[in-house]
Amino acid sequence: MAEIEVGPAGDLAPGDVVGAGPWAVGNSGGELFAVSRKCRHLRADLAGGKIGEDGCLECPWHHARFDVRTGRMTAGPRGGFAKVPGLDWFFRTLTKFRPLRRGTVVERDGTLFVD
Ligand code: FES
Repeated sequence: MAEIEVGPAGDLAPGDVVGAGPWAVGNSGGELFAVSRKCRHLRADLAGGKIGEDGCLECPWHHARFDVRTGRMTAGPRGGFAKVPGLDWFFRTLTKFRPLRRGTVVERDGTLFVD
């Protein structure tokens, strides 16, 4: 896949998440990450998510959480979905085998790119 430009490195502060092509790119406690943008639950755009206190990326729709270092779901969808028996287990297991894709964020001349 071709390299995707994200934007100025100084614009991605801790806690920020932005979209860049197929990637959700963010800053989790000073660590830059890029993961594929579609939530494994119902494909919400993870670029609209937020970073939780534990450094995980939280989906904007039903608040499933993803470990941005592994791409795995650490907590399943919440709200009414949390009451569905086995759903949390199903998605956490699914992403064990099919995690979010992870890209490499690089900085060149003050601009971030995902490779
Ligand atoms: S679409 Fe992400 S948790 Fe439902």
